[in-house]
Amino acid sequence: MKFFTKPRKLILAIESSCDETSVAVIEDQTKILSNIVASQIDSHKRFGGVVPEVASRHHVEEILLCMEEALEEANILTEELSAVAVTYGPGLVGALLIGISAAKAFAWANQLPLIPVNHMAGHIQAANFVRPLEFPLIALLVSGGHTELVYMKENGSYQIIGQTRDDAAGEAYDKVGRVLGLSYPSGKEIDELAVKGKDTFNFPRAMLREDNFDFSFSGLKSSFINTVHNAEQRAETLVKEDLATSFQASVIDVLVGKTIRACQTYPVKQLVVAGGVAANKGLRERIQQEVTEKLTEVTVVIPPVALCGDNAAMIGSAAFVECEKEVIADLTLNAVPNLSFEAI
Ligand code: KG4
Ligand code: ZN
Repeated sequence: MKFFTKPRKLILAIESSCDETSVAVIEDQTKILSNIVASQIDSHKRFGGVVPEVASRHHVEEILLCMEEALEEANILTEELSAVAVTYGPGLVGALLIGISAAKAFAWANQLPLIPVNHMAGHIQAANFVRPLEFPLIALLVSGGHTELVYMKENGSYQIIGQTRDDAAGEAYDKVGRVLGLSYPSGKEIDELAVKGKDTFNFPRAMLREDNFDFSFSGLKSSFINTVHNAEQRAETLVKEDLATSFQASVIDVLVGKTIRACQTYPVKQLVVAGGVAANKGLRERIQQEVTEKLTEVTVVIPPVALCGDNAAMIGSAAFVECEKEVIADLTLNAVPNLSFEAI
C-alpha cells in the first residue's frame, strides 16, 4: 500500500456532515487513539431539528479545536500521520464544506494524501471496531436521513438492495417524538419509554409482506399523529409509554422482518446494523434474537452505542478501505450533499 510508508499506520479523520463536529486519529483501521465529538444538539433543540446555518457556524467554531484535541489526545505528531480523511457526503452542504476545507488545508500544509469518505460507508465500517468485517455481508443502515439495506460483496463495494420510499426510520422517531412533546432528537427517549408500555395501538407494518427490500414509514407516522390528534379532540389522554411501545414495535417488526429476509436471499456471512438508530436497544436485542433463531450461519455485528451516532472514528475506519482501493482526492474535492451508494 503506497500510503503507508511510515512506521505506524495513522489516519486523521474529520466528520462534519450534520450536527456533530468530530475529529479522530485511527491506527491500523481498528484502534481508536482519539475520537473527539463536539455535539451541537443543544443549539438545535429549540428549533425541533437541525438548522443548517446554525450547524455551519458551530462547525467553524469547533473544527480547529477538535483537530488540536484529537492530535493531543492521540499523543502523536503531525509528521507521523499517513493521510487525512474527510466526509464529503451525504449531508448538509455548508456543514460538509467546513470539514472538507479544514481537511484540505491540513493535507496541503502537511503534504498528506486526502481521502474522501462517504458518511454512510463510515457508519458501516464502525462495525470494524467490534470485529473485522467478513464478506459477503448485509448492512442495515438506519439513521436520521437514511434507511437502507446494503449488500457488500467485498470490502469497499456498497450496493443498495432496498431503501425507504419516504421517511427514514430516525426521521420518523424524531417526528413522532415532537408529537409526544419530547425534545429533538427523540429516538433515545422513545426507546426508553418503549420498555415501559404495551403494544396496544397496533400501528401498520408497512410493506412487510411485499416482495422487495424497501421500507416506508410515512404511513406509520400519519397513523400515529392521527391517533394522538383524535384523542385530543375527544379530550382523551393516551398513555405515552403505550404509544412509544406501539410505534417502536411497528418500526422494529418492519426493519427486522425485511433484514432477515434479505439475509436469507443473499449469501451472507455477517449482518451489520449501523447508523444512529442502531443505538436502539429494542432493535439490537430483537435482531440478535431473530438471527440466532433463523440464521445460524450469520454473525450479527453492531457497533457500540457510542459509535452508532455520527463520529470521526468511523470515517477513519472507512478511510483505510479507501486507501486499499487507492482512492485519493485532490484539492478540488467538493461536498456532495446527496452522495449515495448505487442501487442493484
Ligand atoms: O446517524 P445519526 O447520528 O445521524 C445521521 O446521520 O442522521 O442518526 C441520528 C438519528 C436521529 O434520528 C435519532 O433520533 C436516532 O438516530 N436515534 C435513535 C436512537 N438514538 C438515536 N433512534 C432510535 N433509538 C435510539 N436509541
Ligand atoms: Zn450519520
